[in-house]
Amino acid sequence: MGRAEKVLELAKRRGFFWPSFEIYGGMAGFYDYGPLGTALRRNIAEVWRRKFVLEEGLLEIDTPDITPAVVFRASGHEEQFTDLMVTCTSCGAAWRVDELLEERGLPHEGLSAEEAERLLREAGIRCPSCGGELGGVRPFGLMFSLEVGAAGAKRAYLRPETAQGIFINFLNLYYQARSRIPFGAATIGKGYRNEISPRKGLIRLREFNMAEAEIFVDPETKDWPGFEALSGVPLRLVHGEAEEVLPVGEAVSRGIIGSRALGYFMAKTKLFLEEIGIPPEKIRFRKHRKEELAHYSSETWDAEIEISQGWLEVAGLSDRTDYDLRRHEEHSGERLRAFVQEGVSRVRRIRPKMGVLGPMFKSEAQEVARALRGMEPPPSGPIRVEVGGRSLEVPPEAYEVVEEEVHGRSFIPHVIEPSFGLDRILYCLLENSYYEREGTGYRVLALRPNVAPVKAVFLPLVAKDGLDSLAREWWRRALAEGIESYYDDSGSIGRRYARADEIGVPFAVTFDYRTKEDGTVTVRDRDSTQQVRIPLEELIPTLKDAIAGRRKIF
Ligand code: ATP
Ligand code: GLY
Repeated sequence: MGRAEKVLELAKRRGFFWPSFEIYGGMAGFYDYGPLGTALRRNIAEVWRRKFVLEEGLLEIDTPDITPAVVFRASGHEEQFTDLMVTCTSCGAAWRVDELLEERGLPHEGLSAEEAERLLREAGIRCPSCGGELGGVRPFGLMFSLEVGAAGAKRAYLRPETAQGIFINFLNLYYQARSRIPFGAATIGKGYRNEISPRKGLIRLREFNMAEAEIFVDPETKDWPGFEALSGVPLRLVHGEAEEVLPVGEAVSRGIIGSRALGYFMAKTKLFLEEIGIPPEKIRFRKHRKEELAHYSSETWDAEIEISQGWLEVAGLSDRTDYDLRRHEEHSGERLRAFVQEGVSRVRRIRPKMGVLGPMFKSEAQEVARALRGMEPPPSGPIRVEVGGRSLEVPPEAYEVVEEEVHGRSFIPHVIEPSFGLDRILYCLLENSYYEREGTGYRVLALRPNVAPVKAVFLPLVAKDGLDSLAREWWRRALAEGIESYYDDSGSIGRRYARADEIGVPFAVTFDYRTKEDGTVTVRDRDSTQQVRIPLEELIPTLKDAIAGRRKIF
């Protein structure tokens, strides 16, 4: 068994995760999390929350998974969030064309359906499953669509990213941020993508867990406070043909990373991944080539972690420019702008001519005027406004464009986005934590105490002579103090250690006959298997400090 298979076997047997709906034959791209997986994912998300939301002062929000279609029409996803697909004419299996081409080392990014089909044909690629002939290539929309309501149902989608919930709340959030730029918002929640061929466990799901931050910055500086403090953080950067390790400050000043805000959040990403226990040498950032960029991005770096199958993207850090807010301005008619009291600028505004609008639009004239005032003046000609669900044309004689002097500057903020997939991170963490003990071959997950789903196990050496009740009593005290732990008295002590090691429990507390004599217990370290004796009254504070990383026991 390879490393990945061993981790999957352990994950299923010990209750981290397993394929969903198994008793009905399963459905590709969906996984259930068991008790240990649920706790591990929550702990990873908590570290993310502390590093991004709390330390950076981001505004955490929670918005619906079901989102009206108009949002994703505005965001460009309806049209552009597609993958090229091909189906086998013989067995009917569906394949992602870019993956088929990439496996053969052929160009696979930014291709039209026609180009992709020609490449497939020229390379003689057949169905990887049955060897049958492949059919025509077509773009496949990756969003799940649904209808909301009974009468007059509204078309909607399950969100493919949580980000849009933040963008469409820009005005609420800007107000919460006391109208100061830069500021950021974050969401931890589900994303849904109807992936064409999800055959890679937690790595490619159709329903997955995201942690996303949207950082609103001034386009003139694209800065974030604290940049200087992290400018020395070394990052392994893969860009074009180059691969080099550079302090983030230098990468920004040399223009390899486009802005201080983007650089800052790349450094923060590295620190987060290290904090949950990914070894630094297994983390790198890869810059997207132009053809690879998502429709909203001017610059993207993938944070990648090395696992047995190679480097895997776990987060995307993008400069989304003003793309999303501008598109939502255009589609909603709301002005999504920030204002800084800096200098004097001239702005062009539309001034409606009520004398013309009145007779023309009668009872709707006031509403048409309001819509016009909120819009950007066009170079010339008629303007379309949405009023009462109808699109109306306003001729040029019904408005004028005036230039005004304002103190300060109004602009659409640009967005720097760190976007994380928690399921992939969890999987990479398990793979990187897994090892087998020399000699015995016993399996161990070397999870750090801050993310380990269970922090301690309470063990009586033997389940008699009062050792069991003593161990139980202290286990309950530990639980009351918030230490996730369990009590185990079944089987030999060696077996019980091994069971705990396999799920990554960092500390095992053993109650033996000496405990009854002098009130001390042994605490065993999972990784070194070293043991120390400590007095019972110090047990709980010691464990708490060790879990929080404030103190080392070993
Ligand atoms: P890929 O190229 O692998 O399809 P992507 O570039 O489409 O991924 P993004 O759109 O950048 O991914 O999504 C942000 C993050 O969300 C990714 O870095 C990844 O961790 C996670 N993610 C995206 N799609 C999936 C999926 N189908 N299953 C699990 N996680 C995913
Ligand atoms: N929000 C970024 C992404 O979904 O890729």
